[in-house]
Amino acid sequence: MTPQACDVDEDDVFDHHLPHPLQMKSSIHFTPVAVARYAAHLLAPRPGMRVLDVGAGPGKFCVVAAREVPTATFVGIEIRPHLVAVARKLAMRFSVENATFLAGNALDLDWSEYDAFYFYNPFAEQLYKTAFLLDRTLSFEPSKFLEYVNGARQRLAIARIGTRVVTYHSFGAPTPFGYDLVASHSIGTDCLELWIKARHVGPTEAGTTTA
Ligand SMILES: C[S@@+](CC[C@H](N)C(=O)[O-])C[C@H]1O[C@@H](n2cnc3c(N)ncnc32)[C@H](O)[C@@H]1O
Repeated sequence: MTPQACDVDEDDVFDHHLPHPLQMKSSIHFTPVAVARYAAHLLAPRPGMRVLDVGAGPGKFCVVAAREVPTATFVGIEIRPHLVAVARKLAMRFSVENATFLAGNALDLDWSEYDAFYFYNPFAEQLYKTAFLLDRTLSFEPSKFLEYVNGARQRLAIARIGTRVVTYHSFGAPTPFGYDLVASHSIGTDCLELWIKARHVGPTEAGTTTA
């Protein structure tokens, strides 16, 4: 049975396609299949929408979401190049053509090309080294957490009205001013939230996080 034809609705089936060290980390670091499928519809309710997964890891969210909503495009940006290579292989293995992956810092990207943004704790490793380490290739710098979270909030603050943001577990800070909480679902001890940009805010309201 090819991966395209097999049932990947179960996490252990999907995770089996990851390199072994990543399989062991998946339940903590990567979005569960059922959550990714549901979040895909929250992020891309209309054909042609472009979704950015901020911190895509080895592509689990993007690949599952792209299979679930083939009319949307899912782009994953990931700071660890070796995970981008895994993500590209996964997309090929599952014959997913509407998911692509970029290597680099999400804050270096032009966010104006996207209609929606997905965050599953992308910056948490910078804060909680011991408990949340995915691997040792990312230097531990708590100051980077504030830089990344504030950078993300500022980019979301200047996004278009109607921009959709879905957070799973956490974004790392309060969502920027100008967004309304439209839906909230408890999943075990975690939470999936949909925010939609409703109004523009002034530069002082865009806000930064200091703790
Ligand atoms: C918790 S994982 C989530 C993976 C994926 N979004 C999912 O849900 O399956 C967060 C990822 O964000 C990446 N990351 C951290 N800081 C980043 C940054 N500034 N730019 C891009 N990726 C980043 C980490 O390397 C890690 O792979």
